[in-house]
Amino acid sequence: MAQKTEKNLAYAFAAESKASVRNEAFARKADKDGYPVIARLFRAVSEAESVHAHRYLLLLRGKIGSTEENLETAFQNEIKANVDEYPQLIKDASDEGQKIAFQAFSQARDVEDRHAELYKKAMNDMLADRQTEYYVCQVCGYISEDAAPENCPICGAVKSKFKHVT
Ligand SMILES: [Fe+2]
Ligand SMILES: [Fe+2]
Repeated sequence: MAQKTEKNLAYAFAAESKASVRNEAFARKADKDGYPVIARLFRAVSEAESVHAHRYLLLLRGKIGSTEENLETAFQNEIKANVDEYPQLIKDASDEGQKIAFQAFSQARDVEDRHAELYKKAMNDMLADRQTEYYVCQVCGYISEDAAPENCPICGAVKSKFKHVT
């Protein structure tokens, strides 16, 4: 693919992904503030930005492989985040005395480890065809299998903070 266009697709993918999450955050805030119709608009735009992001990602060469390949890629990405990326972010937050960011980065790093473990398991379970249900902590992103725990092992959040992924 032409070089500039490939770069632009990668840029647009990142920008639209961000916009999607940001609009979802705006939607949650609008819900909290008692504006359900505005929340729906933010959510609709979030969904639309996600459509754009997916469209660009599909056009980028080699970004989506077979499910086996994607599990391996996802596994490697979690390891990279855990080993190469989060430690520096944690150190910077610590150096600057940013306690809340420090905690957010530290918990995320621990959770990435768990994500990697789940991918590894899924690679094996794919062959065994094991049925697994996942519950995601809405505070730190920890993922529990088969049931939500009483408390999140990473951040301590209560059971009701876990979202069942369908
Ligand atoms: Fe992760
Ligand atoms: Fe958590």
